[in-house]
Amino acid sequence: MITSPTMQKYLRLALLLSGTIATTMAFKDNTNYTPAIPVKETFIAGPAENYATYCSGCHGEKMDAFTDRNWKHGNKLTDLMKAIKNGYADEGMPAFAKTFTDKEIKELSEYILKGIKNVEAYNFDNAPVSATFKSDRLTVTLDTIATGIKVPWSMAFLPDGAMLVTDRNGKLYYVKDKQKQEIKGVPDVLAEGQGGLFEILLHPDFAKNSIIYLSYSKPKKANGKLLATTAIMRAKLSGNSLTDQLVIFEALPYAPTRHHYGGKMVFDKGDLYISVGERGNEQQNPQSLNDNQLGKIHRLKEDGTIPTDNPFKDKDGKATSLYCYGNRNPQGLAIHPVTGALWETEHGPRGGDEINIITPGINYGWPLTSYGINYDGKPITDKATAKGIKAPELYWVPSIAPSGMAFLTSNVYKPWKGALLVGSLRFKYLNLCYLDGNKVIGQEKLLKNIGRLRDVRVGPDGYIYVAIEEPTAAVYKLIPVQ
Ligand code: HEC
Repeated sequence: MITSPTMQKYLRLALLLSGTIATTMAFKDNTNYTPAIPVKETFIAGPAENYATYCSGCHGEKMDAFTDRNWKHGNKLTDLMKAIKNGYADEGMPAFAKTFTDKEIKELSEYILKGIKNVEAYNFDNAPVSATFKSDRLTVTLDTIATGIKVPWSMAFLPDGAMLVTDRNGKLYYVKDKQKQEIKGVPDVLAEGQGGLFEILLHPDFAKNSIIYLSYSKPKKANGKLLATTAIMRAKLSGNSLTDQLVIFEALPYAPTRHHYGGKMVFDKGDLYISVGERGNEQQNPQSLNDNQLGKIHRLKEDGTIPTDNPFKDKDGKATSLYCYGNRNPQGLAIHPVTGALWETEHGPRGGDEINIITPGINYGWPLTSYGINYDGKPITDKATAKGIKAPELYWVPSIAPSGMAFLTSNVYKPWKGALLVGSLRFKYLNLCYLDGNKVIGQEKLLKNIGRLRDVRVGPDGYIYVAIEEPTAAVYKLIPVQ
């Protein structure tokens, strides 16, 4: 029997430090001795410490990530207090009635409520009522460029003022003067889950050679199973069809899953970069460097051959396509207009979506480090950072599901000039990141509730173009309102 208040204090502290879940121990004083200094006042753990000590082991280190979830038992103050106090024994949630006072439970619940408010700030209530959107610094109105493209995944601007737009369902369109025409000769794609036709990219010398690149989910039958992988087709645009099609890249191995393909491409100084997702197999792919191209970014020459100065060599000392690794599902690639660095957006787990600056040979950490937690609420890793792993420049809690990205260098939108634009699939808006050098110093939410925003580009005319998925599928041009 513990009788000394000092010992009680010591035990309580030890419990806090060890992170043990004190569900059954009560600190009732069974003697008539009243401590001169009550225990609660000498050791006051705030809600943040209590969360870290008693909750993070099961719900993840970051309270914010925990709050980005579908609540089963409600997320009001009283719901949280009830859950913490009584637990849900059947579901594996312990009761903390004997660990905390009612006051502590209330404070802990209020602390969690803060995280919930942060998530709710992204739930824009109303569908847009007009094509005009106000932001802090600028008002814009939407000009509809194309409709009827179900999942417009990517846009490319042609020298004749037209635009090529992919539909993930496996179609490529030529859009001019708001009219669209289908282009024949695209590859067969596996348009299931997140798969299909992805990026359309022009060769840097397109005006001379009419060469384009398409990334897509390439199907393959093996042992009666339908597999797929991220691949690149290079082809020539001649009138309304593609000719001279050649598959110049296939990420190996093929996988049976239908998600996390990556598929974004960008040219820089004549080299072609392609992002490949880890296909939902985080344990096998992103950290494996031997004959595994999933969960990585690759660098090729324009003809698909491998630059000899790529950072990784195979066992014969020959350069491989690999450029960096440890990536989960990269969905945006863009070259910074001033520094020339390659920037990337990546779908992390819940509460762990990232912006990275990509440097050759580097490990981006997945799944060894992450700011996010699993979708079922279980922690993936207790490490957000580690030695030898490059930390993201920015991470989003809650996860916004970033898509295409573009740097805004034109003078068309003066108050936004220099910002980075990132589409949000999950919250259906355009995220604007104000930059100071490489640092994101502020963010603004534009085009709230516009629909799943799949791609954003700045055209040669300096205007922003956005591609929105069904059910409100469209390609829009943003016109500033004076
Ligand atoms: C031993 C693991 C464990 C610990 C420790 C734990 N929980 Fe839970 N908790 C669960 C499980 C399992 C569930 C039910 C499954 C789920 O919803 O994630 C749950 C559910 C909940 C819910 C209800 C969620 C909903 O959807 O309605 C709340 C609120 C909650 N926990 C808060 C806490 C708080 C606050 C702490 C720390 C004081 C804590 N939990 C500690 C495992 C744990």
